[in-house]
Formats: sequence, structure tokens, C-alpha cells
Amino acid sequence: MTATDLPPLALGGHAVDTTGQGPARPTPWAPLRVTGAEIAETVEHLSRAARPDDGRRCAALVHPESTTGRSFSPGVEVVVEVLLPGESTTPIRRNSSLVQIGVEGSGLVEVGDTSLTMDARDVVTVPSMRPHRFVNHGDRRWVRLSYSNAPLLDFLGTHFQEELDAAWAPGLPLDGPIDMVETDEIADRGSAPDHEISPTGARLRGYEYLVDIEPVPNHPLHWPYEAARALMAQTLGDGQRTIMALYNSATERRQGATNSFFVTLSRIPAGLTPRAEGPGHRHSSVAINYHVEGTGYSVVDGQRIDFGPGDLLLSAPSWREHAHYPSDSGLTVYTVQDHPQHIGMESLIWQEDLSGPIFALGLEKGQTGYTAPRNWDDE
Ligand SMILES: [Fe+2]
Repeated sequence: MTATDLPPLALGGHAVDTTGQGPARPTPWAPLRVTGAEIAETVEHLSRAARPDDGRRCAALVHPESTTGRSFSPGVEVVVEVLLPGESTTPIRRNSSLVQIGVEGSGLVEVGDTSLTMDARDVVTVPSMRPHRFVNHGDRRWVRLSYSNAPLLDFLGTHFQEELDAAWAPGLPLDGPIDMVETDEIADRGSAPDHEISPTGARLRGYEYLVDIEPVPNHPLHWPYEAARALMAQTLGDGQRTIMALYNSATERRQGATNSFFVTLSRIPAGLTPRAEGPGHRHSSVAINYHVEGTGYSVVDGQRIDFGPGDLLLSAPSWREHAHYPSDSGLTVYTVQDHPQHIGMESLIWQEDLSGPIFALGLEKGQTGYTAPRNWDDE
């Protein structure tokens, strides 16, 4: 029987016979480079426009294969945001979360009850559903790259965003905790039934466990670039790390800066002898490199893509083999990857050696003796 043999469903939709379709295969997008010059041109365009009513001068960098018309990779939106001196955005909240990387100038990120001063090259996160706004009190233009999981929520049809009262200020609560009546009969997860129902460990429990989930406090966080830089390699072979992760403890074992994104800072000192090309690795997560300093090239499924300061690269579309070859200029790179989403879904598969095993990270013993995709100091 084929799909055409199946009758339409009475109230809409149809059944599809998927018998014999074979295994699912990854369908990665092509790699993509947006040059620093193109980002600068975008910033100039946004700066010339009249101030929009909501204060948000922003432009999404869109991949040609984007199905939402806004995404840079299937699940990641990268937006160039500009605030001119004296400007601020109107307060909003949204159920997507943000990783902000400072490109130029500085400003104030006001989130929940927190105000963070963010300089160029700093990273600041905005957790989901926190009221927030951006304020530029300075005399210089403030430019940020803003990464979010909005495309995934768009795909699910559930990206929520609302404008807040213009009078909102940090510390002013919105909905706040729901007032509970003081009674012994209150239904919460502490009094809900919870039974082991079979020797497999399966449980049967009350709905309160869902609607009163134990919260994990998730605060907006700030990684000052200078402080991070000082903790990393200063010269070749000094024993310090050349790549480290910006970790938010609220993401627990998902290793993220947010529950969507894993963010690393790479700092490779100048003077490195460029290494010979060789095999790369691949993983189900995507990687987006923002090259702050330095030159070199990436090879993605055999395609060479040169990079320089200010470039943004979709350098690792899901499951495409990739490797990076910095020149002797030294390198400073922020990389955003959607590992935490995959860890939550048990879908983070990783193949370091394309003739070797495929690891399901977080589900089995992972790789050992692995401190970075490449140990630059050793090569
Ligand atoms: Fe990688």
C-alpha cells in the first residue's frame, strides 16, 4: 500500500504510509560566511534609519536555506543589534533566551532585577521570560550580536513575545509567584502521589510535579572579556587553555551559557606554525564562529572558507566534517553551539575520527583525554 492508497482523515490531514522509507539521514545546510565588512555595512544601515518606536534597530543574518526567513542555522537566529547614544529599547519578555556578544561600544543590559554593564567582546545572557531592555547611556554607538533559539520556537509555532509597560524598571516584578492560600490541603509536588510502578524504575505520579516543577534559578550572567582572556593562554606553550566554555550553572549537565547554547572563547596566541590539513570531526550540533581577531580558514566537507576579523561563519552545519586552520596571526573566536538542546533531547552524537565510533554524549562514557577540538600548542 502506498500513501496514495490511504483515504484522507475525516477531520483534515491524512495518513502517510512510511513503510520501507529507510533510515533517517541528516540533511545539513551548507556552510556560510558573513564577512566583517558585510556586518559593518548592516550596522551602518541600521544606524542611518530613524529610531523605530520600540528602539530595536536590528537585522537578522539569514542563511539562504532558512525555512523561517530569519535563521542563520536551522535552530539559531543571529541578529545584529544597534543602539545609538542616548537610545534604549522598550521593555519586553519572550520565551526564547539570548546570548549577547559585544561588538562595538558599551551599554546597559537590564534584566529582571539586574543591570549589567556590557563592553565590546563581553558576553551577557538573557534568560527566557525575564523582562529586559537595553540602554545606551554612552556617547558611542553600541553594537551586539544576539543569538537566540527563536527559530526552533518558530518551527514549533510557539515563539512568545510581549511588550511590557514602558514604565518597567529592573526589580519591578511582572506576574510574580502565584499567591497560594495557606492551607494544609494545598496541592503541590510535596504532597502529590508518587509510586514506583515496575522494577524498571518507571513511576506513576501526580500532575503537580509538572505544574509545580522545582525551579532552577537562572540569572542573567556576564562574562567580561578581559577577565576571561587573562585566564587563558598568553603565549604559545604556556600551559594555559586555548579554548574554554562560558558556563552557567543553571544549565547543569547541559554545559550551556543558556539552556540552548554552549559558548566558547578561543584564544590562540600569535606565532603558531600553521598545521597541515587533515581529517576533521563532526557532531549533530551546529557551530557558529564569530572571529574577533586573526585569520585562517576552515574546511567544511572539503570546502575551504577563509576567515578574518569580524567574520561570522556557520562553520559546522550539523554532521558536516569540519576542521579549522588558523594562520600565525593568533586567533580570538567566540563559538556558539546548540549542544545543550541536543543534550536535553539525547541527540548529541559526535564522531571525532570519521573511521571511528559515533559517541552519544551524555548517554554513555564519553571521550577521555580530550581538552579541545585541537591541542594547538602540541602541533
Ligand atoms: Fe566541531
